[in-house]
Amino acid sequence: MLDKNIYLIGMMGSGKSTIGTLLSKQINTPLIDMDIELEKIMGMSIDRIFNEYGENRFRMIETSFFNEITKNNVFIYATGGGIVLDKKNQKILAENGVTIFLDCSLNILQNRLKNNLDSRPLLKDNFKKQIADIYHERYDLYKSCANFIQDTSTLTPDEITNDIRKYLDA
Ligand code: S3P
Repeated sequence: MLDKNIYLIGMMGSGKSTIGTLLSKQINTPLIDMDIELEKIMGMSIDRIFNEYGENRFRMIETSFFNEITKNNVFIYATGGGIVLDKKNQKILAENGVTIFLDCSLNILQNRLKNNLDSRPLLKDNFKKQIADIYHERYDLYKSCANFIQDTSTLTPDEITNDIRKYLDA
């Protein structure tokens, strides 16, 4: 068990849920998968939350949940890709644990996400361009929020998890 929160941040498709699940089992620390928790609280899919309430409202719900849940015990967080957009969330990431940016190349993200668009409200019509725009808008923000940058473009999930464990010494 760790003594501080671990926040996995990065783009959709960068591996946050997969790596969070592996890390959680290996270091025996519970995982909070933010999108899954928000879907449970709202009783609807992320896609439907976006459709019914819009992106701004989704961000408010996400931020207020993040602010509440991080006051509790020590967890690993697979955050939603947009968590870094809000200043309150940036403060939590900076002050209240270790933040790991899962850094995946744009080309690989586009390939990974192309068969998985139904549940992605921000990727609809021209998904390659939409991913590219979001990637370029956020890349520096992800980097500036991170204590550690882990490449996830070419390594296997086991290799990535091992690298993170080495960094955490866990
Ligand atoms: C979003 C990423 C999604 C989800 C929502 C918005 C984003 O989470 O929170 O669709 O703005 O990048 P994942 O990164 O887990 O796919």
